[in-house]
Amino acid sequence: MPAPFIDLGVHHKPRGFSDRVAFGFTKALRWCADTFFAERYGHRAVVLETVAAVPGMVGATINHLACLRRMCDDKGWIKTLMDEAENERMHLMTFIEISKPTLFERAVIIGVQWVFYLFFFALYLVSSKTAHRVVGYFEEEAVISYTHYLTEIDEGRSDNVPAPEIAKKYWDLPDSATLRDVVLVVRADEAHHRDVNHGYANELAGLPVGTVAECPPHVALEPTWKQAA
Ligand SMILES: [Fe+2]
Ligand SMILES: [Fe+2]
Repeated sequence: MPAPFIDLGVHHKPRGFSDRVAFGFTKALRWCADTFFAERYGHRAVVLETVAAVPGMVGATINHLACLRRMCDDKGWIKTLMDEAENERMHLMTFIEISKPTLFERAVIIGVQWVFYLFFFALYLVSSKTAHRVVGYFEEEAVISYTHYLTEIDEGRSDNVPAPEIAKKYWDLPDSATLRDVVLVVRADEAHHRDVNHGYANELAGLPVGTVAECPPHVALEPTWKQAA
């Protein structure tokens, strides 16, 4: 199947204090992830996707509350951010079929979720521009990490196992799809989140929004009342 085209070279050059804080914070976390996981890309994906699914829901919640208070339109931000959170959760549900986290990693996930949720909520309240920039930089790093994962698969250090059923259903992949195909669509999702979040940070900073990489097509997750109908 043809790989979704994405621009791997996109990088927002930090401008001003807020961008530098966001970039420095992201690089510090990247160092922690590299130290903790090294080349264990499957485990890295599982643990980091539990974190990646947080900002979208926080941003959606805070924008929702702000729109209620101000009685104003959200310009499509709330659904966009909720879709991002849902898409990241599907990344997690996919990679959990590839790598099972260790007991220690599960403990780390619980601890990190408490700290990161509260931290990101506070950051979004103080500066939504910095918060979206942080996510933009996180996603730049995610694109790099999944590119490394592809190299691991191509060079035979990670088995190119059959794609999990949940991934084939969600992205409508062929029956013959493999882990490599999954990593390609996941990386394209991350490039989309990268551009959306840098775009939102730009909009809040009064800068041009820029182009957004297309999100690979996937099925819509239906609410329970629709599933039952
Ligand atoms: Fe992800
Ligand atoms: Fe992402």
